[in-house]
Amino acid sequence: MAEAILPNVPRHVAIIMDGNGRWARARGLPRTMGHKKGVEAVREVVRTAGDIGISYLTLFAFSSENWRRPEAEVSDLMGLLKAFIRRDLADLHRENVRIRVIGEREHLRSDILPLLLEAEETTRNNTALTLVIAFNYGSRDEMARALRKIGEKIRDGYLTPDMVTPELIDAHLDTAGMPDPDLIIRTSGEERLSNFLLWQAAYSELVFVPEFWPDFDRPLFMATLEKFAGRERRFGGLAASSVLAGE
Ligand code: IPE
Ligand code: IPE
Ligand code: MG
Repeated sequence: MAEAILPNVPRHVAIIMDGNGRWARARGLPRTMGHKKGVEAVREVVRTAGDIGISYLTLFAFSSENWRRPEAEVSDLMGLLKAFIRRDLADLHRENVRIRVIGEREHLRSDILPLLLEAEETTRNNTALTLVIAFNYGSRDEMARALRKIGEKIRDGYLTPDMVTPELIDAHLDTAGMPDPDLIIRTSGEERLSNFLLWQAAYSELVFVPEFWPDFDRPLFMATLEKFAGRERRFGGLAASSVLAGE
C-alpha cells in the first residue's frame, strides 16, 4: 500500500471532529444528518489510521460542555454513539483494534456506560490501532479528577507532596500509559482546543483544516499527515539544522 511508505507517521493523532451542524446547515438539512454523516467519516478515518500504522487515534466525540446543547441533540448524539458501538464493535475487534474510552464515566446514563465498558473489555488484548474515544471528556474535569485522586493518596499517606511530578500527574489522568498526541487536528476552521487534552497537548503539532468533519475523508487525512511530516519539532531544544551547523 502506497501509504505505508509515508514518512514520519505520528504515533498518536487526536482529532477534534467539528462542523457536523454547519455541514448539515449548508445543505438545508437538520443538524442530526450532519452527525450521522460524521459517523461515516469516523469509520473512514479509523480504517485509514490502521492502514498507515498510527498507534493511537483519539477522537473527541462528546465534550463535558456539550450537555449545554438542546436535549434533543444530546440524545441524538448518545443514540449515535450507542449505534456505532453496537454496529461496529465486532468489525473493530476483527481488525484487532483496541478501544479505550476517556472522560468522566460515573455520571453517564445506565444505557451508555455498559456499552463503553463492553467495548473496552472485548478489545482489551488487541494489538493494532488503539482507538481512544473521548466521551463526556473535558480536560479541566480530567485534571480535577486526577488531582482529587492524588489528594486522597496524600491524605491517606500513600504519597507525599514532593512526589507530585509531571509523570505522577500523567499517571492519574484518563490517558495514563498513552503517549501524548504528536498531532492534533481540528476540522471546520475553528482554531481552538475547546478543553481537549490541554495537558497532553504541551508539544503537539496543531493542524486546523477548513473542511467540516463529515467531509474529512482519506485523502484529506493523508494531506494533513503530510503537513505534519513537514513540521520540525523542537521540544524546547534547538532546530536540527542549528545543531548541525554548530551554531
Ligand atoms: C461536532 O460538530 C460534533 C460534536 C461537537 C458532538 P458540531 O455539532 O459542533 O457542529 P457545528 O460546530 O455546530 O457545525
Ligand atoms: C468540540 O466541539 C467538542 C467536540 C468536537 C466533541 P464544539 O463544537 O463543542 O466546540 P466549541 O463549542 O465550538 O468550542
Ligand atoms: Mg462545533
